[in-house]
Amino acid sequence: MNNPDNSYVLECQGVFKNFIDGKSELHVLSGISMQIKRGMQVAIMGRSGSGKSTLLQLLGGLDRPTQGIIKINGININSLSEAELGKLRNKSIGFIYQFHHLLPEFTALENIAMPLLIAGKEPREALKVADELLVKIGLQDRATHKPGKLSGGERQRIAIARSLATNPDCVLADEPTGNLDDETAEQVFALLQKLNSEFGTTFIIVTHDPQLAARMDHTFHLKDGLLVSN
Ligand SMILES: Nc1ncnc2c1ncn2[C@@H]1O[C@H](COP(=O)(O)OP(=O)(O)OP(=O)(O)O)[C@@H](O)[C@H]1O
Ligand SMILES: [Mg+2]
Repeated sequence: MNNPDNSYVLECQGVFKNFIDGKSELHVLSGISMQIKRGMQVAIMGRSGSGKSTLLQLLGGLDRPTQGIIKINGININSLSEAELGKLRNKSIGFIYQFHHLLPEFTALENIAMPLLIAGKEPREALKVADELLVKIGLQDRATHKPGKLSGGERQRIAIARSLATNPDCVLADEPTGNLDDETAEQVFALLQKLNSEFGTTFIIVTHDPQLAARMDHTFHLKDGLLVSN
């Protein structure tokens, strides 16, 4: 895989996404272009159903656009096979969801290590990385807790640590604080910002909270299938 232009972590040009729903076609994204520089903190806002999650899925290579170009680290994903795309995604992108999606039968430490174990890293090495991340998020005393025995905010912090385990260039977070009370949301958001400055990881965060968005480097608004920048 060649990598001609690496100055943007993520890029899309003229991206359309339609969903076929029975006989009708739903036009969700109608010509989105954006470029995300390395290390940026970017918010995506827009009303429910405007296509925010759809756009994140496309940017993260979890789905393909109906039309248009998506580049991850300068590589046009249209030119990749599913296997190549999977490899690029695992190496370059981390995901955080509104609901943590942690595995209930594994401990906090094991959950953080999971992406590394799946990638074939030695368990001892993977757990060492996970342990370091657990310290970074201030939850070292919860290492052996399973998700059911953690608070909502703690689970989300574990999910953040998990998204960083593979040291991705970019983390895509879909309403990571949407399910938390204000104070806990603030703690989780502050942690994301701390990790952004410490690791230089690019963060793209979907949020409904204008105050959180205002603290990011840049905010995009999705409206009628298009991005409005401010
Ligand atoms: N796989 C799919 N098949 C058909 N329609 C879909 C699919 N995924 C999303 N949609 C539709 O696309 C539109 C955009 O959905 P999306 O989940 O991206 O919105 P959103 O901006 O994330 O909303 P929310 O703020 O409620 O999470 C919605 O109308 C949704 O019903
Ligand atoms: Mg959504």
